[in-house]
Formats: sequence, structure tokens, C-alpha cells
Amino acid sequence: MLRTHTCGDLTSVAVGQKVVLCGWVQRVRDKGKVVWIDLRDRYGMTQLVIEEQHADSALFTQARQLGREYVISAQGEVVKRMSPNPKLPTGEIEVRLTSLELINASKTPPFLIEDATDGHEELRMQYRYLDLRRPCMQRNLALRQKITQLTRDYLNQEGLLELDTPILIRSTPEGARDFVVPARKEPDHFYALPQSPQVLKQLFMVAGMDRYFQFARCFRDEDLRADRQPEFTQLDCELSFISQDDILSIFEGLIKTLFAEVKNITLPDFPVMTYEEAMQAYGSDKPDLRFGMRFVEVTEEAKKVPCPLWPSPELVVAIALPGGARLSRKVLDRMSAFVQEGAWSVDKMTYVKWTEEGEYRSPLTKWYDEAVLQGWAKRAGAQQGDLLLLIGGDKEAAQEALGALRLQAIKEMELKPTYAFAPLWVIDFPLLEWHAEEQRYHAKHHPFTAPKPADVALLDSDPGRVCANAYDLVINGVEIGGGSIRIHERDVQEKVFKAIGMDQKTAFEQFGALLTALEYGTPPHGGIALGWDRLCLVMGGGNSIRDYIPFPKNNAARDVMLGAPAPLFESTMNEKLHKS
Ligand code: AMO
Repeated sequence: MLRTHTCGDLTSVAVGQKVVLCGWVQRVRDKGKVVWIDLRDRYGMTQLVIEEQHADSALFTQARQLGREYVISAQGEVVKRMSPNPKLPTGEIEVRLTSLELINASKTPPFLIEDATDGHEELRMQYRYLDLRRPCMQRNLALRQKITQLTRDYLNQEGLLELDTPILIRSTPEGARDFVVPARKEPDHFYALPQSPQVLKQLFMVAGMDRYFQFARCFRDEDLRADRQPEFTQLDCELSFISQDDILSIFEGLIKTLFAEVKNITLPDFPVMTYEEAMQAYGSDKPDLRFGMRFVEVTEEAKKVPCPLWPSPELVVAIALPGGARLSRKVLDRMSAFVQEGAWSVDKMTYVKWTEEGEYRSPLTKWYDEAVLQGWAKRAGAQQGDLLLLIGGDKEAAQEALGALRLQAIKEMELKPTYAFAPLWVIDFPLLEWHAEEQRYHAKHHPFTAPKPADVALLDSDPGRVCANAYDLVINGVEIGGGSIRIHERDVQEKVFKAIGMDQKTAFEQFGALLTALEYGTPPHGGIALGWDRLCLVMGGGNSIRDYIPFPKNNAARDVMLGAPAPLFESTMNEKLHKS
């Protein structure tokens, strides 16, 4: 046996036992007559001790030669510590060494293998195997494993089969950019890596598999952010003979179970908000409900007075920023620039300060009576000491701009959330959205999403108004997942392809398998996919989904450890390009 215990096992119950531990040397402290070694493994840290009166000089010499990250096997007896460390689960004991075996030496690592490391991210990515030795990273990956395991158990009980779908599939131009793989046997032909197993999971339903799930690796060649990786994992699910309410209930149940089991938190029932309501109240389809700050609309009163700050607004919306009256001119200018420099064409942001002394200070006082401004502030739920932020413009632009400003202001003020976790469902998304550059509609979710039955007729007459049976799960302002009830009738599927400007021939070329399958007895079905890396991040905390992915890419989509992407060997390249 190489070890009798792990470095996280031993407590005062084990005092007197002879043990063998293996692990990595965190540090060696040499106090002359006593040497301490902190030994670390995935399970914890145990202090080893070598004292003059109990050890021979050879053991001392051996211990003093150890360096950080050396791998050792240590044999000794568990003794009570003179001064216990209450912060460590093993803090009551130490192991008095009788022998020590050096298993493998280590170069000095390029950064501290500790939670509070001195290594910057790029360096840690380059030596990811060392970064992953840090206890916080090990905790993150263990959390991921735990929620994955609990989810398998839960979905198994719900009767979902865990099934695989292929990684080499066909490229389609809808959605994000594909990663492609040249086919050796067919010149000028390529496989694509799946952006999601959407069509394949629907084909499982046609195949009568009834209920499916998969932890599916997805690939999207898009610009990266803290919550986006080119290669990520979805918990992908699809169910037959199911309503939207059934799906929301099963997956709300899953999230509640995970929070209860992993965090000991009982989540209340999730609020359900339509897309329209979410945009109206928060200017976002993924509102962060941890901070009240709902929008109030003041358009009618604002328009009663001709005001050059909003010459002809379709909408004027406001939010109250708690404690914001003390913000300096500089900060307000910064917020104003944030709105001005954003992608929204809206009027300049303006504000009303309701000072601690009860005065109203605002550029708007030139045009509006104080009583009007006071009315707006009160409607927004402001109190003395708060700030009212207002934006006018076209409806959608003003909503989106104030939605983004709301989040920016929360950051700027470092506001503390009222709740730790605020999950919600956003439902009733529009089926299509207009892309002005291409002068055509795109599917908002994907083109397999079912229109609400009552709206099918609108597909021909007014496609922009068609509402979908589509839903998103949002937690703390992060889109965790999305799904929909799917189209299960070929004629409706063809109508939707037509509405997004795809002619019959192209639709059949790209989605022939699905269109054909729809003619062979397709059950009504629907599903959802949860971004697994994002769920881990929301549950475990941190700044980026990279903290929950063992070997992620950097912001430039590079694997700096393996050095990928890289040029191909000439022979491979020639073979791929079919050159002799
Ligand atoms: P969607 O495209 O909304 O839906 O993706 C589902 C969830 O996957 C996560 N996600 C990502 N996570 C990390 N990096 C990325 N680049 C990334 N892109 C998406 C998000 C998102 O909510 N086939 C449909 C699902 C369905 O209809 O069942 C789909 O893929 O958390």
C-alpha cells in the first residue's frame, strides 16, 4: 500500500496510529531543532514534523533538501499538535516522521500553488496542470463533478436516457460560426463540430427515445468573454409529449435540488416573466433580480413639455439608484459617456439628484417643475439620497440602454444584492428578430422553435409579431439556459425556413434529414440546454467560466499550454489538401 490515509483524513481520533501519507510538499519550515513540512494532496494538508529528540540526522538532512512541489511518501505516528490550527480540518494533529521517501523532485514552480497565487492568468494557463493543483481549483472541479453526478441521478429518476450524439457533423450557416474539419477522403468537403446537438436530439424524439439528456461538448467560433468559451459544455435535454409547463417544472426542480444538496439553500419558486415584461421592467431579457431598480415609464408627462434633452421620444424610462445622489459630476459624466458610446441610438442620459437634504438637483429643472420630478422619483421608489437616471429615445433602444446603464451603475456603486441567488424564467420570446444589415429575419432561438399555435397564421402576414414557445433560465443576470417547444410538423417548419429567407432547396440541402424525419410520425417535443460551465460559475462563484473548465482556451481562443491552434505538419497538410 503506497499510503494509508490522504492528507485530509487525520484528526485527533487517529492519535497514536502509524500512518503513511503521500503528496506534494507545500513548504518546509526549518527552525533548527524542528523541521515542519506541509504535505498537500487533493483532500487537504497535513503537517509533518521532525524533532531533534525523535529523529536521526539523516532524516533531518533529507527533510531540509526537500523543495516546493517535491512528491514524497512520509511514514510516521500521528501526535497531538502543541498549537492547533483551527482553520485546517487536520489542524489538531501532526505526523511525527520516522522515514521519508523522495518519490519525485520538482523544479521550482513558476507561481505559488496556493489559492492566493502570485501567478497571472496567462502563466497559470500555460502551466494549467500546476494551476489545477491549487486547492480552489480542485474545489471548483469537485463542485462541477458533484452537480453533474446529482444531475445524472435526478434525470435518471425523471426517466431521461443519457445518449451520445456525434462530434463530426454537417456545417450550417445559421447561428454562430462553425469549427470545421477537412475530410481526407472527399476533397473540398468538411465536417463541422456541433454548435449544439439540436437537430440530433430532435431526431432522437422521432426515433421514439422519448426522453434524452447528454452532457454535450459544443463548439462555437465566436468572440469570447468571461462567460463564453469556443468549446463548452451543455446539459442538453429533449422530451416528447411534453408541455412548456412540464419542462419548466422538471428543470426548476433540478436547479432547486442542486442548490439544496450542494449549497444547503432552499430556493423559492422561480418567478416567470414574459420577454416583453422583462424588457419593460429591466431593459434586458436576462434581468438580474437581486437588485430591485425596476424601470418606471414617464413618457406621457415628459412629452407634455418640449424639452431639448429628449426632442421626440417614443419612450422615456427611469430608474432609482440607491445612494446615488452623492455621485460626483465625474462619475455622472462617465455614466453618460457609457450610454453615448454604446450601440444604442438614444438621447443623452439625464438625472435627478434627490439629495439627503431633500433638494432636487437636475438639468431637467429648467423645463420641469420640481413637483413633477418629485413624482417621477417617488414612482421609481427613490428616497432622499437617491439618484434618478433617465433615458429617452426609441422604445427598444431606450430600454436596452437603461438596462445596460442599470448594471453599470450597480457596478459603479458596488451595490450589495438583496438576495444571494435570484433565478427566474423568461418566456414568450419573439420567434424572429429583424437584421437590418441583411434585410431579413433571423430565428431568435433557432429555426426549430415552435411558434405559439395561435400565431402560426402570422408567419405569412406579420412574421415579426410571432411569439414563440421559447424560454430562458436566468440566474443573477446570467443566461444559464434556453430551450423551446419544437416544430413537429413539416409544413410549419417550411414556413419558418421561408420566414428567415431560406428557400426550399437550401432548406432541404441543409436540414433534409430533419425535414424528411418530420414526415415519419414525429411526436410533439421540446427541450432545453443549460450552460454547464455557467451554472458551475453561478453556484461556485468567481469571475470566469474558465475557473470551472479544466483546460480552457484564453480570450484569443488559444490553448497556451498545448500551443493550439498550430500549423499542420507539411505531410498532414498535403494529405488534407489532397496534394500529392
Ligand atoms: P443556446 O444557444 O441558448 O441554446 O445555448 C444554451 C446555453 O449554453 C450556454 N452557452 C455557452 N456557454 C459557454 N460558452 C459559450 N460560447 C456558450 N454559448 C452558449 C448558455 C446558453 O444559455 N440547442 C439550443 C438549446 C435548446 O433549444 O434546447 C441551444 O444551444 O448558458
